[in-house]
Amino acid sequence: MINKKYYIENYGCQMNISDSEIICSILDNEGFIKTENFKTANIILINTCSIREKSEQKILLRINQLKFLKKKNNNIIIGILGCLAQNFKKKILKINNIINLVLGPDSYREIPSLIRKIYKKSGKYINTFFSKNETYADILPKRDKNKITAFVTIMRGCDNMCTFCVVPFTRGREKSRDPHSIIKECEFLFKKGYKEIILLGQNVDSYLWYGGGLKKNFKKSKIKNERIINFSNLLELVAISVPFMRIRFCTSNPNDMSYKVLNIIKKYKNICKHIHLPVQSGSNKILSLMNRKHSREDYILLINKINKILPNCSISCDIITGFCNEYEYDHNETLNLMKLVKYNFSYMFIYSHRIGTYAYKNLIDNVSLEIKKRRLKEIISLQRKHSYFRLSKSIGYIQEILIEGISKKNINFFYGRNSKNEIVIFPKKKFKIGDFLKVKINNCTSATLIGDILN
Ligand code: 5AD
Ligand code: SF4
Repeated sequence: MINKKYYIENYGCQMNISDSEIICSILDNEGFIKTENFKTANIILINTCSIREKSEQKILLRINQLKFLKKKNNNIIIGILGCLAQNFKKKILKINNIINLVLGPDSYREIPSLIRKIYKKSGKYINTFFSKNETYADILPKRDKNKITAFVTIMRGCDNMCTFCVVPFTRGREKSRDPHSIIKECEFLFKKGYKEIILLGQNVDSYLWYGGGLKKNFKKSKIKNERIINFSNLLELVAISVPFMRIRFCTSNPNDMSYKVLNIIKKYKNICKHIHLPVQSGSNKILSLMNRKHSREDYILLINKINKILPNCSISCDIITGFCNEYEYDHNETLNLMKLVKYNFSYMFIYSHRIGTYAYKNLIDNVSLEIKKRRLKEIISLQRKHSYFRLSKSIGYIQEILIEGISKKNINFFYGRNSKNEIVIFPKKKFKIGDFLKVKINNCTSATLIGDILN
């Protein structure tokens, strides 16, 4: 008799949250039952992240902690899924002998059958092969109830090969999902009462549907250009198909973003005016060592174009500090670029030398931790000023806000977001989570807008 209660723990980015929802759907369709309490589960799945060393260490520690469960009940199945599984492959079984299942991001459909196999004849199973076609297009993710926002994955993998990044190795090459299945899912989400969709991909601007398969094989496919769907086409199709929902997308890449996308964002009111456009560094020398394929000048040109076409659009960013051979001059170039753009928001990271990447094999991690930390501090402090500057520009204006929840700091306040992805808090009055409403912005901190409901 199989005990079908499973518990899933998620680490990492929005793509992983979306993948966990896909995994839950696969398991539920096979009669497995999700539990929120790992102590009551017989199957424990950890969906992992490998992007920085810290992320990996956290997960390895967690796996170690689970040893006590296995000691208590040897029948418990422990599965390691996702990027760390892909990165470590067999090695993870050697590091920790409590693991039964190691599956990379393209093997999730096998989870139910492998669990049955383990129950029948025990053993350890591993599959980290990449598939050319797997996009889980036909699987409707099992989302948490009462949510306002839904993630919809539109493409998987990355072909960009930034020298610091493990993603091309942990998630494989780029492949896009059938647009029909994307639109169908968006329409379904609207009917279910969701208010906002975030289209997800490691590099959404690179989306390309030509009937299926890896993007790198498109040129060999003989499919005519008129028949392909690119990201601007897809964004327009989604905006039209769910006109009363907010549409967001993440992550954009400066090298792949087309001006056509900017015009589509402008054309449709329901597409939010926010672009997450990682630059990673402001120095041309570092961008080149990172194999970013865009220069500082290309990036500034794109920013100017965004500001021209979408004057009210917010721009956020990812920045890495302390990459190999980053001198003080390069760091100052990053600070100067930040001063030029004045990002609304940034995710800022200390460089982590990841095994398997080009940088690991060919460059020396030669910036000391002390210097990395100091530079990060300077970047964070500058970003704080810019966030305040950007947020303060909203003061005095009336904005449309989608209520997302109750403020953690004060239960008499709601929090929500404006189109620019800025968080706004305001007294509750008679409204409810999921409502769109007009809020007058009266004040701000460096992280939050403060307002009052107009209606
Ligand atoms: N070290 C630090 N940050 C990294 N990122 C990716 N790889 C690394 C690394 N090795 C950051 C990049 C990317 C974000 C998702 O994570 O800024 O845009
Ligand atoms: Fe990694 Fe670069 Fe791809 Fe982003 S674009 S996922 S940083 S390789």
